[in-house]
Formats: sequence, C-alpha cells, structure tokens
Amino acid sequence: PTMKNMVGNFFLIGLMGAGKTTLGHQLADTLGYSFHDSDQEICERTGVSIPTIFEREGEQGFRLREATVIRDLCQLNNIILATGGGAVLREENQQCLKQSGTVIYLHVQPETLFERIRGDQNRPLIQVEDPLQKLQNLYTQRDPIYRRTAHIILDIELSGSLKTFNQLLE
Ligand code: S3P
Repeated sequence: PTMKNMVGNFFLIGLMGAGKTTLGHQLADTLGYSFHDSDQEICERTGVSIPTIFEREGEQGFRLREATVIRDLCQLNNIILATGGGAVLREENQQCLKQSGTVIYLHVQPETLFERIRGDQNRPLIQVEDPLQKLQNLYTQRDPIYRRTAHIILDIELSGSLKTFNQLLE
C-alpha cells in the first residue's frame, strides 16, 4: 500500500537526523495533512528550548513531557507527526503510536547521521566527547525498538530522501 490510499495518522520514528521533520513536512504538504513535531510542541508548551529542558529537568523530566505530548497528539486525526528520536523508549508511547496510526521508521546508519548532525548544539544527547560512539550506542539500543514499533520500515540509506518520498506517494 502507498500513502495515497491509506487514511489516518502517520507517525515518523527514527534516530535524530534521520529526516523525520523534513520528510514529515513534505508529506503533510503533499497529502494536505497537518504537520506536528513532538519536540516543537514541547518547546511551545514550556516556552524554552530542548537543551534548556535537559539542563533544568534532566532527560527524565524531558521524557515525561514528551509522553504527555505524544499522548495528546495521538488523539488528533489526519496528522503527520515527527517524533523525537527517543519517543519510542517508553512502552506507553509505543502503544499509543501503534494504535493511533501508521508508524514509519526512517532507518539510517549512525555513521551517516553523524555526518549530518555533528556540531548541532540543539541536541543535548550528542554534546559528548565522542558523538559518533554515542550515536552508534543509541542505534544498537533503539534499532530493534523502532523495528518492532513500526508498520513500515524505510531504508533511507539506500534510496535517499527524495526517492523515499516519491516511493511513499506512488
Ligand atoms: C532525542 C532526540 C531529539 C530530541 C531530544 C532527544 C533522542 O529529537 O527529542 O534531543 O533521545 O534521540 P530529534 O530526533 O528530532 O533530533
């Protein structure tokens, strides 16, 4: 099935830098759906940036806010949602996403992600001495979770995002 003959919500999951926000915007424009981004929603609700939330409340605090936002956004209809890379860590979020729409995993190798997002100050998890190692660890930990949460797996590596996008709309 392609997206044009599917209905309901589409949730994009995957590691940071996979292209969830970029692809999500394009899909929303093409399908006439409204676009949402869980990180952006958290920033709007709190009035501060993601790094500030991590600083003040730690990753734990951020995850709580993220769970609330995911739960709320899952109630909406006909949306494209780009989730934060760690949104699938909580079981409740996995369930919520899986039950409320079609979950699409954008699969990208950590080495490619590193080239795309190295030096990005807005991603607290990679503000470490060895961000590549960190991304590789996150990949090892999360790839199986993304795979079992997703209804569709897109290998961005092989196709590039434009081809992927066209593929979805074929
Ligand atoms: C995170 C990914 C980020 C953001 C936060 C934590 C993660 O979102 O939610 O920095 O745990 O992978 P993006 O995937 O949009 O970068």
